[in-house]
Amino acid sequence: MATIFITRNIPESGIAQLKQKRHKVIVSPHDRVLTQKEIILMGKGSDALLCLLTDAIDGKVMDGIGPQLKVIANYAVGFDNIDLRAAQERNIVVTNTPGVLTETVAEHTIALLFALARRIVEADTFTRKGRYKGWAPMLFLGSDLTGKTLGIVGMGRIGAEIAKRMGGAFQMNVIYHDKVRNKEVEQELGVTYVSLNTLLKKSDVVSLHVPLLASTRHLISAKELQTMKKTSYLINTSRGPIIDEKALVEALKNKHIKGAALDVFEFEPKLAPGLSKLENIILTPHIASATEETRGKMADIATRNILAVLEGKTPPNAVRV
Ligand code: GLV
Ligand code: GLV
Repeated sequence: MATIFITRNIPESGIAQLKQKRHKVIVSPHDRVLTQKEIILMGKGSDALLCLLTDAIDGKVMDGIGPQLKVIANYAVGFDNIDLRAAQERNIVVTNTPGVLTETVAEHTIALLFALARRIVEADTFTRKGRYKGWAPMLFLGSDLTGKTLGIVGMGRIGAEIAKRMGGAFQMNVIYHDKVRNKEVEQELGVTYVSLNTLLKKSDVVSLHVPLLASTRHLISAKELQTMKKTSYLINTSRGPIIDEKALVEALKNKHIKGAALDVFEFEPKLAPGLSKLENIILTPHIASATEETRGKMADIATRNILAVLEGKTPPNAVRV
């Protein structure tokens, strides 16, 4: 019997699987982000830690939980909240939840794309406030997407899913940039590889799908925003710090770009000063993977990874430095 500590309540199916194997499962009783101290206190002595992207898991936390800790299963595809090197040094396996949320995140990104281009949120507010006085030729003019260029930064699973749908069903011309060129994806989806600079210059919509690494922090800052077209939109459903949020506020204020949609924020859950005052931005609270179906599947995957490690097997979704 092993002890598993879960830092916040997650869909029941995952927890049930662990209990079925007669493991001791401890779930934080608080429906909020725990401090590192609390994670150590509640997790002390655990063999497995199931944590969230809001938990900063560093060497100190790992040592606090104790030397019996074998696996850290992140309830997310991104894992920038975990110090991988510290885990490696301690022989702790780290896992994530890729695959199951690909379509879900793609769908949210596409929802934001259409909402931006057709000014859905602004128009909804306008109509609710009773300001609609009758059809008008110039009321809420948006932008067509058909035939326009979509620039995907980061052609992983999520980027490819968006490329497939937007290039196929919605007839956008898709270009992409990634640190590695993927000729298979190019052939399969008919997308074109370009430099980041060319992508920023040519795209009508830029969508970010890279992990947060030292090399991608502030990948989009003042210079990149100025390289984008004045008529273009920027979407971020990856990680907040990929964009210099202060520079984005300036770019939106000065109309360097036409609009933006963010599901993630540089100093989450805080918003950069001025961000929420802008009309040409749509904000959602980090919900791109938030569907009933997907959050359940994420719980199942995190659980499967934990059980594999506890049984001495290779987990399906180990991540490495
Ligand atoms: C959500 O942001 C995730 O990484 O799963
Ligand atoms: C994440 O699943 C990605 O590869 O985009």
